[in-house]
Amino acid sequence: MTDETQTFVERYDQIILDSTIRSQYRDSGFYNVGDWSSSPASIEAACSDLVRKHIRQADVNSPDLVVVDVGCGLGDTTALIAASCHQGSRVVGINISDAQVAEAKRRHPDLAFQVMDATNLMFEDASVDRIIAVESMFHFNTRAAFLTEARRVLKTGGRLVTTDMLFRQDSPALEWWVPAANRGLRLDDYPSACRQAGLVVESIDDITATTWTAFCAHLRTIGHMVAADRFEMCVEHYVIITIIL
Ligand SMILES: C[S@@+](CC[C@H](N)C(=O)[O-])C[C@H]1O[C@@H](n2cnc3c(N)ncnc32)[C@H](O)[C@@H]1O
Repeated sequence: MTDETQTFVERYDQIILDSTIRSQYRDSGFYNVGDWSSSPASIEAACSDLVRKHIRQADVNSPDLVVVDVGCGLGDTTALIAASCHQGSRVVGINISDAQVAEAKRRHPDLAFQVMDATNLMFEDASVDRIIAVESMFHFNTRAAFLTEARRVLKTGGRLVTTDMLFRQDSPALEWWVPAANRGLRLDDYPSACRQAGLVVESIDDITATTWTAFCAHLRTIGHMVAADRFEMCVEHYVIITIIL
């Protein structure tokens, strides 16, 4: 692991494992902005709705699938995915952080988690049916390297469903948690970025209003006015994408 990656992981762990942040997520193991389109009663219900949206688009309704949850946070995304799959399926949550994987195992001892970098997937060629990456893709160093790995490990007929963020160029969020190579991708250029990795965008939907903007509104309801204003101007597009071979 490079020093830059090590620093990223340490900074990320400090935030995601912080007790104040955990209580903002009502002690769930989620860390995403949620889908607020059905007026969920709580942040963890919104987070679940966002994961369910990925699961529906991934179509896990076949037996014996191999499903990888990339950037699995503290494991609640993996747990929802596993609960939606047929019994014979193999679901693995992966994360670059040892500490987060340890916490995911503590929360879900019956599930499989592995420390792994999204840009260096430890799976055989053509061995994975579904990849789900909930709000993690923009972190990967680089997004393009991850797409190449996804292409390598997916079986024919496989699919990748992910939410991704396209940031404004002057966004303060670009400081350390979005690698330079991932900045500046425009929505119109997404399909060609996937094509370069040998992948095809089946659908791309801009869901900024019901995710990022709605999350900022939620932050204001819990008194985080300054953070909400700062965050709201960071993201140009929050998208959910289904990618096929
Ligand atoms: C916004 S969180 C989303 C967590 C989870 N998917 C959820 O929705 O609750 C992004 C996650 O991506 C992970 N991550 C960042 N870079 C990664 C990489 N290169 N490989 C694997 N995971 C990574 C972070 O550690 C973090 O857990």
